[in-house]
Amino acid sequence: MQREKFGSRLGFILISAGCAIGLGNVYRFPIITGAYGGAAFVLIYIAFLLLLGLPVMVAELAVGRASQRSIATSFDVLEKPKQKWHLMKYVGVAGNYLLMMFYCTISCWMVVYLGKYLNGSIVGIKDASALGEVFGGVVSNPSLNIFATFGVIILCFGVCALGLQKGVERITKVMMVALLALLVGLAVYSCTLSNAAEGLKFYLVPDFAKMKEAGVGTVISAAMGQAFFTLSIGIGSVAIFGSYIGKDRRLLGEATTIISLDTFVAIMSGLIVFPACFTYNGGQTADAGTVGAGFLFTTLSSIFNQMPGGRIVGILFFLFMVFAAFSTVIAVFENIVSFWLELTKLKRWTVCLINIALMMVLCLPAILSNNIWADVKVFGQVFMDLEDTIVSKWLLPLGSLVYVAFCTTRYGWGPKNFLNEVNTGKGAKFPTWVMPYMKYVLPLIIVVVFVVSVI
Ligand code: ALA
Repeated sequence: MQREKFGSRLGFILISAGCAIGLGNVYRFPIITGAYGGAAFVLIYIAFLLLLGLPVMVAELAVGRASQRSIATSFDVLEKPKQKWHLMKYVGVAGNYLLMMFYCTISCWMVVYLGKYLNGSIVGIKDASALGEVFGGVVSNPSLNIFATFGVIILCFGVCALGLQKGVERITKVMMVALLALLVGLAVYSCTLSNAAEGLKFYLVPDFAKMKEAGVGTVISAAMGQAFFTLSIGIGSVAIFGSYIGKDRRLLGEATTIISLDTFVAIMSGLIVFPACFTYNGGQTADAGTVGAGFLFTTLSSIFNQMPGGRIVGILFFLFMVFAAFSTVIAVFENIVSFWLELTKLKRWTVCLINIALMMVLCLPAILSNNIWADVKVFGQVFMDLEDTIVSKWLLPLGSLVYVAFCTTRYGWGPKNFLNEVNTGKGAKFPTWVMPYMKYVLPLIIVVVFVVSVI
């Protein structure tokens, strides 16, 4: 069967960037940047994007484009007879499902808060602890979470059911353009607030003493984890978009554009958060002990509610959050649909219907972990956190290692095939001198930081 393709290069770039741009950029990035010392953390994060994110993304796109498959069968196509690289499909399939099992619920909170700003029910509450109670009320309400999460699932699989070009490409393109416009508008507004300069200083001038306070090892492993999470590399989520494009462009340029867009959105999100924190919250950002949901739904909401025009800012901000979340959910759902299309003979619509039901069941542990299953812990973590840990700390780094090894050693696909694929088309060439780095140094960095983060 002829594989579906994107209608345009812009579609490919925006959807791949949409897969990367998500709650990781607009929610986790400003929170951990605040907690781990501002600009110094940002510098380390950018270093990881270049040293680690870029080569791994190029590897994923190359495997996707050469095999014309998703991670569910791409290694089967490219490996040599009797090799076992195809076992990687289990990491990929599990990774994509697990990511969505908690991500859909966090996305539903964004929808709920968009609703609260639209109907104005939250606007009068300025006190952060009162807002903490509101947030507690939201997460501890199982029926609300079930209803809203199921809505997210139906809507996003519904987009996939319309087809790659007519659904995923068309709708994500519109969402991404709207997201970028909202982002710029909100950042400009925040930078005009009275104490914006202090916030910008915290955010943009490195202070390594603050990093020491948080612990250098902790900060480095958080920066690496953030680089993996924000690009969703290692579980093939981006690889699939390589399988939907032609060979007219070299892949280094395409990966650079995707990562630049992702980084732009993360950095700009900081420009919204920090000036606001320094104007309305006495310079208090998230601290290392409170990295998590509370900051967004309590501190930031309290800040919006103190601003002139706060209701509008709240509406636009949570709309922006919803677009960011949905662009990732749709992209990862497209991966899931593709797994099924490659592994079964079912039609796209049937696959989407089956997965709507499946995903509803799979999301229940994360939904319930904030209320009726709050005491159920596995390895000391509630389900939502456990799923996040498995994906972020284990599957993304380990999957990235496999991609790198597959592309750089002769026991896998090999450097020659890899470079041929990457350098087919127009654009910047992938330099050959990077290969020894990719083969020997990159895996070492991943292993060291992985061990530090697991310990
Ligand atoms: N890459 C996705 C995000 O940043 C998972 O949210």
